Amino acid sequence: MSTLLEARHLNKSFPRAGGAVKVLVGCDFKLEKGEAVAVTGRSGSGKSTLLNILGGLDTPTSGKVLYEGKPIRFHNNHAMTQWRSTGVGFVFQFHFLLPDFTALENLLLPVQSRRPITDQDRHRAEAFLNDMGLSDRASHLPGELSGGEQQRVAVARAFMNRPGVVLADEPFGNLDPEIGAHLGDMLFRLRETEGTSLVIVTHDPVLAGRADRTLDLRDMALVPAEGHA
Ligand SMILES: Nc1ncnc2c1ncn2[C@@H]1O[C@H](COP(=O)(O)OP(=O)(O)OP(=O)(O)O)[C@@H](O)[C@H]1O
Ligand SMILES: [Mg+2]
Repeated sequence: MSTLLEARHLNKSFPRAGGAVKVLVGCDFKLEKGEAVAVTGRSGSGKSTLLNILGGLDTPTSGKVLYEGKPIRFHNNHAMTQWRSTGVGFVFQFHFLLPDFTALENLLLPVQSRRPITDQDRHRAEAFLNDMGLSDRASHLPGELSGGEQQRVAVARAFMNRPGVVLADEPFGNLDPEIGAHLGDMLFRLRETEGTSLVIVTHDPVLAGRADRTLDLRDMALVPAEGHA
């Protein structure tokens, strides 16, 4: 196995009047190619902060993130845009689909932001919708889809650019548990067929149990979770 994504000694604090809020202190992380890791931790422990740094949406106060052995250049806008559009895909708790674009168009947006869309891209997006049981919803706007359907589109969208890693932050936290479990099936199936690594922040022990291992964010750093190797 080889390492895909690595964080070395991350520190993150948010400056605030009256004193900085420390969130991460000396946090290390390693994700192998093809591996799925779940991250748990109490509310406010820094899980979203960590995920945002791993995906280049936020900068660490100090420390490094390496993708395929190369440091992510947090302060180079061009490099960051490129990394975010090809290295990594995101699934958030709230889907962030664009309301004026159809399901199919929303899937194609990550590609379109890099280069002109081809027939192959269109086929890939249609196959994803098909795979998600949404082939008859391709021309629907997000407002015309149920919450679970919207989140299925968001899951597929994260994989469109063939990222090395998909980062998911409580992706099904606001859905009915049964629908959430079904979407968990879809996420893990896509990860398998696409050969993508996965970091999933979740409070759901069943979802975490599907990952290869679980890490707990505790006292501002990651430690192996009890009960899951
Ligand atoms: N921009 C900010 N400025 C100041 N403090 C912040 C900022 N963003 C996050 N924090 C603080 O950092 C800590 C970690 O926040 P974070 O959102 O990463 O937690 P979390 O583990 O994702 O929580 P949850 O499970 O509730 O989503 C919290 O105490 C939060 O108040
Ligand atoms: Mg969070």
